[in-house]
Amino acid sequence: MGFLSDKKTEHESACEAAIRAGDAARARFHAAKAAEFCYALAKQASRAVSAGYVSTAEGWIEIAERLKSARLTPPARGTTPAVAATGRSGATPEPVGPDGAGEGDEFLVGERPDVGFDDIDGMDAAKATIREMVVYPMKAPDKARALGLKPGGGVLLYGPPGNGKTLFGKAIAHEIDAPFFHATGAQLRSKWHGESEQRLSRLLQAARRHPVAVVFLDEVDGLLPRRTSGSSVVDNRMVTQFLAEVGGFRDGDTALLILGATNKPWEIDEAVFRTGRFDEKLYIGLPDAAARLGMLERSFRDVPREGPFPLEPWADRLDGYTGSDITGVAKKARQIAFRRSIEENADPLVLEADLTAAAAAIPASVTPEMIKQYEAFNARRF
Ligand SMILES: Nc1ncnc2c1ncn2[C@@H]1O[C@H](COP(=O)(O)OP(=O)(O)OP(=O)(O)O)[C@@H](O)[C@H]1O
Ligand SMILES: [Mg+2]
Repeated sequence: MGFLSDKKTEHESACEAAIRAGDAARARFHAAKAAEFCYALAKQASRAVSAGYVSTAEGWIEIAERLKSARLTPPARGTTPAVAATGRSGATPEPVGPDGAGEGDEFLVGERPDVGFDDIDGMDAAKATIREMVVYPMKAPDKARALGLKPGGGVLLYGPPGNGKTLFGKAIAHEIDAPFFHATGAQLRSKWHGESEQRLSRLLQAARRHPVAVVFLDEVDGLLPRRTSGSSVVDNRMVTQFLAEVGGFRDGDTALLILGATNKPWEIDEAVFRTGRFDEKLYIGLPDAAARLGMLERSFRDVPREGPFPLEPWADRLDGYTGSDITGVAKKARQIAFRRSIEENADPLVLEADLTAAAAAIPASVTPEMIKQYEAFNARRF
């Protein structure tokens, strides 16, 4: 078993290195070899484990297929700021910012997000999982490595819109004291030939210059759309490049955390899942009772409230509402109270009736059918 899995890893790494070097032919060879060793491992493994190897093998075949028509992005010249800043005779110097920033650094967020875990109400299970799997290993990468744990890797947050995926992404970056790169799928995609892959490539290269870094790819479905007969060449190349680049963070000394977030996980290309690019997948669902109450309390903190009437029954009543629905309802109630205070020259005071009117005006934005769609995806995929 040891020999086969060593060979599998060797070819996987070689494929990823070749893609990064822009050598599609060599990458194809190693992808095919990686698939071959996955199948060999599948033959030897128990039935349960075997299915995993087969699926990984299919992923590598898929990569090999894509590499046939792929035009890879060769490595950027002068990837270190020092080389880029000096330039070399005969070579065009890379664009460098005034403070010596390198290519891809336009995605670097200068200040760490000021949203922390304390700003996320409830969701204790998701918080605990994220802390243990993601935050602590990145905070103490050497200790994690000493215990055979890999700091960093790929983590996908998925779930219905408005329930804190982006919030979690920012909070993770806040907790980990490391450079934070942030891009949305739309920012990375470009209608210009070849540009999208280059942007992704530059972004990840910039992140790899740091010993510890976090890359947050928000709305990642737009970056890695499922391949259909109608999908563009750009999409195909983008997926290939992503598979290669994001595989590569495993080698080297960089502890690189790639966080992806999406509310349309089924629109992400299958190969991304099959090749295990996101080794952790976390469902961020509708807010639980504690989250709903916490959000309501936050929304009415320091706001005069008749009574004050209790918010607990409202936390129950808003079951099924998303996080942004709840903050929306609370805001609407405050607006109703404000309007009354102006029109009737009354004190600024929120009445329970205002909340009733607000909730009646704003229905839950997610239907039970939509939640079922996520559950079906869960059951099918993971
Ligand atoms: N658990 C929570 N605690 C506090 N606020 C929350 C929570 N969940 C959602 N919210 C509120 O809802 C808003 C929307 O959350 P966020 O932008 O993180 O959603 P999302 O899951 O990324 O949605 P999308 O899929 O549309 O990108 C937040 O800005 C915040 O005000
Ligand atoms: Mg979001």
